[in-house]
Amino acid sequence: MVSIATVLNESSHKLEEVSGNNSKREVEILLEFSIKSQGKLFQLDHEISEDSYVFFKTLLEKRLKFQPISQIIGQRYFWKSKFLVTPDVLDPRPDTETLIEHTLSLGKFNRILDLGTGSGCILLSLLNEYKEAIGIGIDISKKALNVAKKNADLLNLKHRASFKLGNWCENIEGQFDLIVSNPPYISEYEMMNLSKDVLNWEPRIALTPEGDGLEAYKYILNGAKKLLKPNGKLILEIGYNQRDDVSYLLKSNNYKAITVIKDINNKDRIISASWFD
Ligand SMILES: C[S@@+](CC[C@H](N)C(=O)[O-])C[C@H]1O[C@@H](n2cnc3c(N)ncnc32)[C@H](O)[C@@H]1O
Repeated sequence: MVSIATVLNESSHKLEEVSGNNSKREVEILLEFSIKSQGKLFQLDHEISEDSYVFFKTLLEKRLKFQPISQIIGQRYFWKSKFLVTPDVLDPRPDTETLIEHTLSLGKFNRILDLGTGSGCILLSLLNEYKEAIGIGIDISKKALNVAKKNADLLNLKHRASFKLGNWCENIEGQFDLIVSNPPYISEYEMMNLSKDVLNWEPRIALTPEGDGLEAYKYILNGAKKLLKPNGKLILEIGYNQRDDVSYLLKSNNYKAITVIKDINNKDRIISASWFD
């Protein structure tokens, strides 16, 4: 039998090549997950049982192959809830919480459309805040939609959230007072510099529309016009360097009240606009 503290020290050292300064924290997460999922207590001065140790080593192996922690443990906290995460969806990012925060600052919405819903983290977090709202999540990935549906179920939001397979705004019926989207926006060039965790493990279709990274915005901005109610809001996540390009696209499509919001790292992250027809 080995002590939990010894495993923590040895494994943190091993994981440094993958996770650098985060290695200790990551090993702690994997150890705690292994030990608790065997129904035992996680305490540094305890010894680790054989079954927990075997399980932990399989998880550590995955991380050593650069699989993201959230995929290994199958979950991630986003805004105020825990979401199921698999290799079929983008791992919800803290940056995207800026979109939730900004939306809430604009008041109440009743009918929400989320384009490129992935895990459903944006739509479901908003429905949790707006208790009377209903919403639809669209995604081109059937596998991602299955994850979003499971999350809606886990969060008891199935009665207010529906999900539909589709290509951005095509074949959507109804009018919405809020359309949100965190589309794939990394350019083909920037994809070459991504870390292995992201490049090798997250769905490429969730990361990039290829080319200059702007293609999804063009479809969304044009399609959203016929789906927004008068004075409806379009709120989008953008890359830190896309403020001017997406503002220009919004202006050319006659959107008004264009506002850019920075994330917690002081980078341009969200752009919102109004549609008056
Ligand atoms: C950056 S991820 C965002 C996922 C989630 N909304 C979030 O913020 O974590 C982009 C999502 O858009 C979806 N997507 C890509 N192309 C699409 C298209 N043509 N129509 C609809 N969804 C698309 C991807 O499958 C992916 O789930």
